[in-house]
Amino acid sequence: ITITVPRDAVALGLGANRVARALFAGAERRGLDVTIVRTGSRGMLWLEPMIEVATPEGRIAYGPVTPADVDGLLDAGLLEGGAHPLRLGPPEEIPYLARQHRLTFQRCGVVDPVSVADYRAHGGYRGLEAALKLDAAGIVAEVRESGLRGRGGAGFPAGIKWNTVMLAQAEQKYVVCNADEGDSGTFADRMMMEGDPFNLIEGMTIAGIATGATRGYIYLRSEYPQAFATLKEAIANGVKAGVLGPDVMGSGKAFHLEVRLGAGAYICGEETSLLESLEGRRGIVRAKPPIPALKGFLGQPTLVNNVMTFTAVPYILEHGAKAYAEYGMGRSLGTLAIQLAGNIKRGGLIEYAFGITLREIIEDFGGGTQSGRPVRAVQVGGPLGAYFPDHLLDTPLDYEAMAANKGLVGHGGIVVFDDTVDMAKQARFAFEFCAVESCGKCTPCRIGATRGVETMDKVIAGIRPTENLAVVADLCDVMTDGSLCAMGGLTPMPVMSAITHFPEDFQQRGPMSV
Ligand code: NAI
Ligand code: SF4
Repeated sequence: ITITVPRDAVALGLGANRVARALFAGAERRGLDVTIVRTGSRGMLWLEPMIEVATPEGRIAYGPVTPADVDGLLDAGLLEGGAHPLRLGPPEEIPYLARQHRLTFQRCGVVDPVSVADYRAHGGYRGLEAALKLDAAGIVAEVRESGLRGRGGAGFPAGIKWNTVMLAQAEQKYVVCNADEGDSGTFADRMMMEGDPFNLIEGMTIAGIATGATRGYIYLRSEYPQAFATLKEAIANGVKAGVLGPDVMGSGKAFHLEVRLGAGAYICGEETSLLESLEGRRGIVRAKPPIPALKGFLGQPTLVNNVMTFTAVPYILEHGAKAYAEYGMGRSLGTLAIQLAGNIKRGGLIEYAFGITLREIIEDFGGGTQSGRPVRAVQVGGPLGAYFPDHLLDTPLDYEAMAANKGLVGHGGIVVFDDTVDMAKQARFAFEFCAVESCGKCTPCRIGATRGVETMDKVIAGIRPTENLAVVADLCDVMTDGSLCAMGGLTPMPVMSAITHFPEDFQQRGPMSV
């Protein structure tokens, strides 16, 4: 009997290794024949560690399991999917999962992440097989027609970027995956790399074949040691199985893939400083143009995409552009990996078609705040994203609708705050984050962020709030218009959204108010 126990970082943090050991020992004591397979997570984080038993009727989930629960579970007939208070039933029928559109995350939490055979047994590599029947222009056309937009945050049409690299003439081109996932509250890239790394490997291989790039790099943040280990093992197994290397699946086409670790700088998620870092230098933003698609890694044409962009591609190639484009709304097609975090009852990964509203995500999926208090503010799109008040929670997640409300989809991270949040402190935090993470290349960001912290300190202390808020607004204008990259350019978004939607937190704060 096979029991799956996640090895995803969240599950490990909640004791999954101890649960696996207890299961092994308990089964051995009882003389039971049990194989424990370590998988990724299904993304229902409040149920972790969630284990699954393969019964003749399909998998049965139990969770959250602690080592102390294991004997009771085995006594209750765990191996037959027996009744127990922790029994959740077939995982696919848990409403949180059943309601999702799992196109990209379909195998995450299901397969053994480092096994090529298991990946293929669950439909893996069909996208690459389909791609190998097309020429480069045909693959790029599929990606373009699917409507896929860059999932790192900017939402640039992937097909146009792929086409630019495909048409560029050079001896050597590169594919680079941005796996520096630095946004607060985001974890989709990590979950994918830990749970279904071959989906990323397959997507990057298809990209390499489409653009004529024979070498790929995954630039991974060093804070993800589990993902690092899983990726390295998966890549080595991929080379052994002939799905990576000099002759990909007998096609005569080469694709070599390596993982490189970052060193903890948020700005290295910006593509040009990522490339600087990949080349061995300090991560400082390069001015664009030239765009990396024409002059990127080592000055050569380079396709830089986020993990979620590459991992959407195998589905698109397998099922066709039209099948993918049937999901979503307007110009935001396909699905988004929404990451629900912060003060929320049921945090986790929700893959859903663009167009779902923030309220549906927070109430229907999230079940409201963990504290039980009313939701007051929701930050969407990472630390550079806007804070939304209750009256804007019916905004659909769609690039254009979010922009119309002065917000971002970003990388799909949603962080929920209850009514105890102090929005003036959140505005200060946005400036502080920028001051700490700024690469220092341009003045509006380097100096502006520090002046922003100082000025917000005065507002918080109640010192001439009206005048100081006018200074903050001025600073924000300069940073928006004058910064070289999104770090300085978008920091005003959380600041100004907090001031606009929660003005009461910025006025009459202290005894010194005049
Ligand atoms: P951008 O708009 O400058 O570029 C988007 C992408 O399109 C880049 O890869 C660029 O090289 C490419 N591009 C532009 N014109 C092109 C052309 N004609 N042909 C081919 N490619 C072209 O945006 P940027 O600075 O790359 O990203 C900003 C976004 O990053 C923000 O909106 C924010 O949401 C997001 N972000 C994401 C974070 C994360 O952790 N995922 C962290 C911080 C910000
Ligand atoms: Fe560097 Fe900030 Fe300027 Fe971006 S905006 S180039 S992070 S100083």
